[in-house]
Amino acid sequence: MTTVLTETRDQIAWITLNRPEAMNALSVQLRAELAAALRAAEADPEVRVVVLRGAGDRAFCAGADIKEFVEVPSPPAYRQARVPESWITPFDLTRKPIVASIHGYCLGGGLEVALACDIRIAAEDAQFGLPETGLGIMTGVGGSQRLPRMVGLAQALDMILTGDRIDGVRAREIGLVTRVVPRPDLAAETEALALRLAARPPMAMAFAKEAVRAAQDLPLRDGMRLEIDLITHLLNTEDRLEAARAFREKRKPHFTGR
Ligand code: HXC
Repeated sequence: MTTVLTETRDQIAWITLNRPEAMNALSVQLRAELAAALRAAEADPEVRVVVLRGAGDRAFCAGADIKEFVEVPSPPAYRQARVPESWITPFDLTRKPIVASIHGYCLGGGLEVALACDIRIAAEDAQFGLPETGLGIMTGVGGSQRLPRMVGLAQALDMILTGDRIDGVRAREIGLVTRVVPRPDLAAETEALALRLAARPPMAMAFAKEAVRAAQDLPLRDGMRLEIDLITHLLNTEDRLEAARAFREKRKPHFTGR
């Protein structure tokens, strides 16, 4: 793998989009390597949290690689290649929390990737935008679906139809990111957040993530049924007992994921 780097330490898989000379644009190769890196992190028992970031000073990711756009796929071939699996699918199948750590440009498909993550932490001066319609296309990996769920129809339509960019501070105001920090603090704040997530009981994290994500799709009663099923499983875990014991004994819990 060359366009995506993975480094695992302290139970965190740091996945880095690594085409800084092209603002980490999503080339065909990078997309495939990103999907593979996520699948590997999900399968690795040492990993409890995934962090996604962009290499270089200037961008998290500037979107699809526009230089590859000259090769136009035939519409049926494009549709065929995307259904039912696409390179974004592993984001929805990963049970571990995925943090997007965003600096610089986060545009087009790059923003769609960030939207597919669970927690977005951004630098104040990060730049978010969906320029696709200006290129005669539109979001293609969930942007038109995830963005309105996250920020509401009005904000989503404004961003998608104008292509206007917003900074990190504004992105937090509209709920596109939940944490915003000065650029120099981004790496340290991301690491502190990831370490805290990694110290929490993995099964509870996975089940809670599943339930919250299902809330986007399910009617309330069905979602509440799912919630009861999931919490019932958690009641039988060792980590649940460990948490209660540690509370009584006034010590830090040590979770094993069982
Ligand atoms: C390929 C890109 C790129 C991209 C930047 N580069 N974005 N290459 N695809 N999306 C390359 C530039 O060609 C240039 O390399 C280098 O990165 C630096 O970029 P500059 O344009 O010289 O820098 P600057 O003037 O500061 O402008 C930065 C920028 C601009 C605002 C990010 O590059 C830009 O507007 N990029 C396109 C952003 C965009 O429209 N993304 C949406 C793509 S559509 P060279 O070697 O040429 O100097 C999309 C659809 C997703 O994402 C659908 C689902 C996948």
